[in-house]
Amino acid sequence: MTPDTEYRQIEPNEDTYVILKALLDAGDGFVSGSQLGDQLGVSRPAIHGKLEKLREQGFEFEAVRNKGYRLIKETDVLHPDLIRYYTEKSQHTTDVLYFPVIDSTNSEAERQLSFARKSPFAITSSCQTKGRGRLGRDWHSASAHNLYLTTVFEPNIPPQQLQHFTLWAGIHICRALQSFVPNAPLKIKWPNDLHCDGRKFAGMLTEAKMDADSIRSIIFGIGLNLNSNPANYPIEIRGIATSLYAVHGKELPLNQVAAKVIAAIHTAYQCAMGASITENIADAWAPLSALAGKHVTAIMSGKEISGIASGIDASGALLLQTESGMRSIRAGDVTLKK
Ligand code: BTN
Repeated sequence: MTPDTEYRQIEPNEDTYVILKALLDAGDGFVSGSQLGDQLGVSRPAIHGKLEKLREQGFEFEAVRNKGYRLIKETDVLHPDLIRYYTEKSQHTTDVLYFPVIDSTNSEAERQLSFARKSPFAITSSCQTKGRGRLGRDWHSASAHNLYLTTVFEPNIPPQQLQHFTLWAGIHICRALQSFVPNAPLKIKWPNDLHCDGRKFAGMLTEAKMDADSIRSIIFGIGLNLNSNPANYPIEIRGIATSLYAVHGKELPLNQVAAKVIAAIHTAYQCAMGASITENIADAWAPLSALAGKHVTAIMSGKEISGIASGIDASGALLLQTESGMRSIRAGDVTLKK
């Protein structure tokens, strides 16, 4: 890494974490300044100063004499201590690194692996300057109200299992996000896109490092349009992209969503490893498919194949009912026929 490509990581801060944890655990209740001061071993004015700093970061508190402080609003951008709080609440604890700006969270994941960071871990960022999409495309990553996230595992599995991991990730992420937007049906466009109302709100990119015949590391990245306004997207994607804010009509809690997505990816990983499979992947996929029953064209090895999308098979391939019978599409790009 050269000096001009060095990115600043913001580490969780123990004092801030303790304050936020006390306030979040209290819910709508108040926490007294003296209780916070005792927990941190500092004076009440020092607590007041720390809360002022948090206010500058976008948090809002109510302060009432003789009662203390109450958290009214979390910051609406990624915050390392909030991510820590929400990930520690989930059963999948993992190190989560936060970079305000990065070239690509997938690239940072590769660098961290090369520095021998132990997996699993996750990289989050508020802005990517070189976000990567599938098939060599760019991923527009300019909004701090979106989520740019990469999770890393080192599985040592045969390559065929990788496809399953990405499909399970789509299934579990979709389910996790659905609980935040109950009235907007979320779907998966095979293999890697999350859709709502016919528009894409998230894309997944799985990159793997191989040994001779097994997968050494999985670098799984997701770009999730969360609270951004599609009216501000580049013109070329404005008609095909959306955000959860746009489909839900209300902002979502970014740090909570990040923790839920990380937990969903860990569940998907366990499914792909065969650890906690209680359901069949084709059955889990069926109700979430954005393509089911639709006339689509797939490009596989440079050849166009058209047919009616009919779910996936046990290997994760997309099934197309074509004029010459059922065909399975193992990889490639699929477009809906107009
Ligand atoms: C696609 O739909 O083409 C996949 C997009 C994947 C984008 C995410 S954002 C986080 C991670 N870092 C990257 O550079 N890409 C992925």
